[in-house]
Amino acid sequence: MARIPEETIERIRNTADIYDVVAQYVDLIKKGRNYFGLCPFHSEKTPSFSVAPDKQIYHCFGCGAGGNVFSFIVEHEKVTFVEAVQQLGEKYGIQVQYESGSASTEFFSSLYQAHHVAAELYHNTLYFDRGKAALQYLHDRGLNDDVLKMYQIGFAPDSWDTLSNKVKPLDMKNDVYDKSGLFVKTKHGWRDRFRSRIMFPIYHPSGKVIAFGGRIFNSDDPAKYLNSPETPLYRKSEVFYGLHKTRDAIRKFGTAVLVEGYTDFLQLVQVGVANVVALSGTALADQHAAQIRKFASKVYLAYDGDDAGINATLRAGYVLLQAGVEPLVIAVPPNQDPDDWVRNEGIGPFQEAMGAGIRLLLFHLEKKDAQNLSGADRSQLVQDILGEIARISDGIIRDDLLKSLAQELRVDEVEIIRLFKQQSRRKGGSTPSSKQTAMNKPMFTSAVQKAQLEIIRTLAFHFDEVFPVVKSALDFELFDEPILKKLGGLLIKEKTGVELSAVIDEFDDRQERELVSEILFDEVSPDDPVLIIQECLATIKGKLIKDQIKAARLKMRELESLGHDTEAIILEVAELQKQLQELTMPLDRK
Ligand code: UTP
Ligand code: MN
Repeated sequence: MARIPEETIERIRNTADIYDVVAQYVDLIKKGRNYFGLCPFHSEKTPSFSVAPDKQIYHCFGCGAGGNVFSFIVEHEKVTFVEAVQQLGEKYGIQVQYESGSASTEFFSSLYQAHHVAAELYHNTLYFDRGKAALQYLHDRGLNDDVLKMYQIGFAPDSWDTLSNKVKPLDMKNDVYDKSGLFVKTKHGWRDRFRSRIMFPIYHPSGKVIAFGGRIFNSDDPAKYLNSPETPLYRKSEVFYGLHKTRDAIRKFGTAVLVEGYTDFLQLVQVGVANVVALSGTALADQHAAQIRKFASKVYLAYDGDDAGINATLRAGYVLLQAGVEPLVIAVPPNQDPDDWVRNEGIGPFQEAMGAGIRLLLFHLEKKDAQNLSGADRSQLVQDILGEIARISDGIIRDDLLKSLAQELRVDEVEIIRLFKQQSRRKGGSTPSSKQTAMNKPMFTSAVQKAQLEIIRTLAFHFDEVFPVVKSALDFELFDEPILKKLGGLLIKEKTGVELSAVIDEFDDRQERELVSEILFDEVSPDDPVLIIQECLATIKGKLIKDQIKAARLKMRELESLGHDTEAIILEVAELQKQLQELTMPLDRK
């Protein structure tokens, strides 16, 4: 990826002010040393999003989002780190120059450029002679020019070289042709992949075109839609069609309407549904759900009214539930999709159905005709639903669903819970609690982990006072939690106190970044920092000694059973016990 000199990044980090940056998007009110506001990353009614100007970091006590100026822009604007640096550089008048010789920068900008050129070409073609029939078709389908222009809908004519001719002057590398997904290799060289298709550009949340969906037009190609393959720019399971434009409305309402098709999306946007998003030829993935969750707590599913649509609704619905988003189903009439429906009957019935959004469980039971099932079929349906419920990590939601399921089926709740436990047990590894621990951040529950955490915090906030003690007495390599190990290493590396917000940039993973901001955000206890460190060190050392004692005892028993002499090891244990006592004595006396 593009490389910006560390020095520039640091200059920008030091110049940019977290309050200033966040306040562009969030109304902040001062309370004590920090500022509070409504979290832009999840929907809430009382402010739990906080900004600490003295530490130059932010943290949401509600959803756990957190980081520094760069990560705020990355998460909020959905841009890369490099783009965030660039953006803040512009804001604060610091010029960003890239280090030379960074081949992949060129590669990526070439890919973006190819998509940019393609989108313009296709869109212009729609409005020229060759696109006349396609444009007429779109108009006949009720799509107006405003929406066609807003989403840069285009037309790829029935030709092998419209785009390939257009990009010739760009002098793109083979690699770019190959990886863009816009071309196919023939014996005549690179030729257009999309032909005789109405083109729907797919955008990155930052507003750049990264892929296309192409609907067949006037040709007998059997594939109705041809979409870009996965490319370095386009990961299907992460991208929503249209989100770059509808994100703000979704965030504002805290709800989204999810549809399956590009045309459904456009039609709804056109009649004023501002908070809609579409998928682009894939099922809703966990990553999709995690993304939408940052903007919306409820998602209305408006899929096609046929069997395939119903099944896709159920799948998507459970993915959302499991990600902590509430799914509500908009019942689209049989054999229509939202596009047809709204075109035939106007927005009224759609809005009514939205108002009457059906809870997923009810929709599931109704569509599978649960009331009329009996015997094995009924039992299978219950097992299917329990399997989905088991993958929801939120215990309250899980319990509510089990309760509703029992009520709806008029089965004793105790019986449902018994079945649920039975199934979870059988599934072994995939019980909710094990999924939760695998997914969620480390918990720091043991005494040693808590002590390690406390050392990190004390070091972060009272660096000068505790640095000598920590430096001489502690090896962070011994920490067992990787994130604490890394954090400790980073904090101690600096000689002259640390720029806390800079530490955050050392963590590439978003979850890690959030955890680090949470750790650094917390106020530290008012006790004497050196004393805190000593107590924590005692806890950690004590645990080490206890482990050694345990090991020695095991060894002793083994020697005994073999009839060997155990004198040496008895002495060893005694010595360890003495050390342990010395370790805890001064603290007990205090
Ligand atoms: P539909 O077949 O319902 O198409 O597929 P549509 O959006 O209603 O299109 P029109 O109204 O016939 O023009 C829904 C979505 O599924 C994906 C596309 O994203 C499409 O918008 N799809 C469908 C594919 O990716 N490939 C296909 O062959 C068909
Ligand atoms: Mn349709």
